[in-house]
Amino acid sequence: MNPLRPAILAAAGSERVKRLLTSSPAAAALVRRFVPGESRAELVAAVRELLASGRAVSVDFLGENTTDRSRADAAVAEYLALINDLAALDTSAVPRGAAPLEVSVKLSALGQALGSDGPAIATENLRVLCTKAAEAGVWVTVDAEDHTTTARTLAAIREVRPDFWWLGTVVQAYLYRSEDDCRELAEVGARVRLCKGAYREPDTVAYQPRAEVDRAYLRCLRVLMRGDARPLVASHDPGLLAAAADLVTQTARRPGEMEYQMLYGIRADEQLRLAGRGDFVRVYVPYGGQWYGYLMRRLAERPANLAFFLRAVAGR
Ligand code: FDA
Repeated sequence: MNPLRPAILAAAGSERVKRLLTSSPAAAALVRRFVPGESRAELVAAVRELLASGRAVSVDFLGENTTDRSRADAAVAEYLALINDLAALDTSAVPRGAAPLEVSVKLSALGQALGSDGPAIATENLRVLCTKAAEAGVWVTVDAEDHTTTARTLAAIREVRPDFWWLGTVVQAYLYRSEDDCRELAEVGARVRLCKGAYREPDTVAYQPRAEVDRAYLRCLRVLMRGDARPLVASHDPGLLAAAADLVTQTARRPGEMEYQMLYGIRADEQLRLAGRGDFVRVYVPYGGQWYGYLMRRLAERPANLAFFLRAVAGR
């Protein structure tokens, strides 16, 4: 594991580091590599380019851990407007088999942390988004946050998904519980986005060494691929992508019945290579003013990104 990862993830809470990042032009350019803009107009321009290249998208309006009801309501309103804007875009270059347009949501942005009523508020808000998305032909996936939210998030999905079969769930391979969660989700034929996991978690709930996380990812992937799930392989890791391709051949899955998913700004060449050979590729595109926590998770994943970050801050 990157030895600096815990420190970077801890800095995700620092207002001072955030101020440094916003005041340096070089740092602002670094932010743009991962987040195409704060406004919906900037987001739509980036999405248009991705769609024209044959890649599907999943758009995340950045925000998390909302502790006030008006911010949760504002997030719902933004998602409704976003779904409208997305539905107007030309998606003809994206292969068929799955919806070319999707939104990703964090239940903590929709109110999950608003006291004892929070889970019910977030679940109702999720239903509102899914209803609007269904009318627009857009799909929805619920992101996975830190482990204290996992059970509540899966409960919300269990409640809403029967009305929207395409509602996607994210599973983080680093959690000990995830192989069982994959088994349960595969049984109901769910769309499951499998990622390694991006939060700082204790060893009481999650594997720590990279090699163990990779092994857990492969175990979860086999459960999803050999079962009835629609696996969404969310990784940039060449070894895991190769293993996924083998499993696709073994299980005779067609493009759209599985997807490769990567983050905006990461391994764009590989995204295009996979799309060029006919695979279904979806790019996760975040936007909005609340980019800080997201950016820190991306920096923590890779020492080279941290070096860019330090140079950018030092060069202000
Ligand atoms: P790994 O981190 O081992 O990276 C493999 C290779 O990919 C690296 O060697 C490098 O080449 C490239 N790479 C990876 N990260 C990079 C970066 N930041 N900058 C530049 N290059 C990089 N997590 C979570 O906890 N909840 C969630 O809901 C989601 N959602 C999600 C959606 C999608 C579509 C993706 C792709 C990922 C997520 N994640 C997530 C994040 C995920 O858990 C994980 O932290 C990152 O994907 C990095 O893990 P990799 O599997 O890419 O492997």
